[in-house]
Amino acid sequence: MSLVDLLFSSSLRSENPPIMLPADPDLPEPAVSSRHCRFSRLRSRLSRGRGKGAAKSSPLPPTSPAIPFSGVNTSSPNPSLPRATPEPLPHHGSLRSGSQIHDSLHSMTSVKSAIGLDSIIEARREDGDLVKNMVHIEAPFGKPIEEVYDGVHDGRVLGKGVTGLVRLATHKATGIKYAVKCLNLSKFDTEESWRQLRDEVFITCQLDHPNIVRLEEVYESHSEIYLVQELCLGGELYDRLDDQPDYHYTEEICARLVKQMLSSVRYLHSKGIVHRDLKLENFLFISAAKDSELKLIDFGLSKHFSRGEIHHESVGTPYSVAPEVILGNYDERCDIWAIGVITYLLLSGEPPFGGCGGPEPLMTVRANILKGEFEFEPKELWQNISQEAKDFITQLLVINPNNRPTSRDAQTLEWLKLWASTEKKQDKSMGKLNSNVVKALINFKEYSDMRKLLCEVLSFTLLPDQIIDLRREFGKMDTDGSGEIGCNSFKKVLMQNAGEGMLGGLTEKKVEDIFNAMRVRKSEATINWHEFIAAGLSQCKVDDRNLRLAFDRLDSDHKNYITLDDVLNLMGNDGKKDDLKQMYDDSLDQCQCTQSRITYEDFLLLMKGQTIKRDVCNPLFYISC
Ligand SMILES: Nc1ncnc2c1ncn2[C@@H]1O[C@H](COP(=O)(O)OP(=O)(O)O)[C@@H](O)[C@H]1O
Ligand SMILES: [Mg+2]
Repeated sequence: MSLVDLLFSSSLRSENPPIMLPADPDLPEPAVSSRHCRFSRLRSRLSRGRGKGAAKSSPLPPTSPAIPFSGVNTSSPNPSLPRATPEPLPHHGSLRSGSQIHDSLHSMTSVKSAIGLDSIIEARREDGDLVKNMVHIEAPFGKPIEEVYDGVHDGRVLGKGVTGLVRLATHKATGIKYAVKCLNLSKFDTEESWRQLRDEVFITCQLDHPNIVRLEEVYESHSEIYLVQELCLGGELYDRLDDQPDYHYTEEICARLVKQMLSSVRYLHSKGIVHRDLKLENFLFISAAKDSELKLIDFGLSKHFSRGEIHHESVGTPYSVAPEVILGNYDERCDIWAIGVITYLLLSGEPPFGGCGGPEPLMTVRANILKGEFEFEPKELWQNISQEAKDFITQLLVINPNNRPTSRDAQTLEWLKLWASTEKKQDKSMGKLNSNVVKALINFKEYSDMRKLLCEVLSFTLLPDQIIDLRREFGKMDTDGSGEIGCNSFKKVLMQNAGEGMLGGLTEKKVEDIFNAMRVRKSEATINWHEFIAAGLSQCKVDDRNLRLAFDRLDSDHKNYITLDDVLNLMGNDGKKDDLKQMYDDSLDQCQCTQSRITYEDFLLLMKGQTIKRDVCNPLFYISC
């Protein structure tokens, strides 16, 4: 039996009872996963006989574990826990255990990071960019995470992953809440699994898209890696689907969600990253609001690829895995297949090929996927769904990946176009820009380079409810749904609005200048999500917490002041050394700093674009202007 066959071997049947969270004596109340409710609801649905009937109906499982790369030890640390994850696949690599590898790494030097965090810090000083460098990586065995966050070990459990728990943690200094994914190092058994863990960290560091979860910080202890991520309060798409009337979404909502998913996938593919584990559980809602946006999470199986590269690893989750992945010969279009499966699920509440904890053996699911066989059943349900929606699914669930649309092509398929135009008709203000935001973008051009940089750093500290307006405007300018704004679409939207008289005399040249001023990161030709937030920052309610976090992000080694090195380390490849030195020296002048360092007070002045005049009579007394 090949590795890929093992993906579907009987040992991997998803017959797991709902996940009961570990009975941790330190936890006041064991958190009850919402999966428990879902399980009982879906069971009752089955018993009512809705859907395709017992033989074909596949209720959503209590959990749909990803089949990881070979070698990750997924056995539960608590023997009383049901197995929520598959047997580890046999591996070709080293047979050393996770703890052996970890110990040997540590024996080289007592402060060496198990996954090479120290070398990442070193490397990105040279060639990182602002987005990557904004993720604070605490020097291995530097400040312990417990000093910075409460709840890392006893906070509410938000979810259970293959290699550890995700908990709600609170940043002590600001009270801001985050999700901390704790990865248990003893579960990484092979060199390959270490590589995949490193990839998860590296890849998540470089992502900046409104529909992708943001990694904030990385910590390491002797037994765990901690990924501090922005918190998604709205729960998994998996759970929300189950809360829908008749357990499925309307076409309108489904199209809106699929549009967001495709935008995130297009962005990933454009950066040479394939996700390889797209499924309902890996899309979270930012908030509990009805119209909340989705965020893609979990880069635990992701991989960098170069154009045309073929992958062979057996990874994925049975219900959403693509046929070519089962055959061990695939490229990034396996992610598009998964979007087809998810669309089918969102519209019907059923997986097209089974494999979602239903009664059918997983080998049957495997055979269904390989044949690409699915039906739009039950008829009563699908007869109310448009032909365009069915065509969309049929076009994505094509066996030969060469005949499958790319993410970019999928965005232009009829069904999504149809709903986009309906949305436009319903919301007359859709194409119209908010004039305050445009004014903010225009003013940003006049900021000093240092102030622009500080705005960008600060933009990473804003919480979803602080950027609602900017998110809306970003969507209007991201006309092709790539999650970034190109110069042409920026020009087109701004000139169109100028034409309607709202922006006065805005020439094409002026728009180009505004665009270039917004590109803090000169290494890229587009404006990314956080560059946009930075430029529109004056429209957000910034508070002390944001300022404090931004300062700390710059002062990454906790000195209580910022130096030129901090700025150089943060900008990496995104600035020339001489220009950055000039920018830093100008800032020192602006604050009349007597030492070569920027204190928190100086930082506040620079943020506000103010300057200091030292009182000649009393040099300790400053007047800001
Ligand atoms: N940023 C987050 N905010 C809220 N919940 C989260 C967040 N990240 C993960 N979770 C919860 O934890 C679960 C497991 O996290 P995930 O990163 O998918 O781990 P794994 O790689 O092991 O599947 C998710 O399905 C979700 O329920
Ligand atoms: Mg996951």
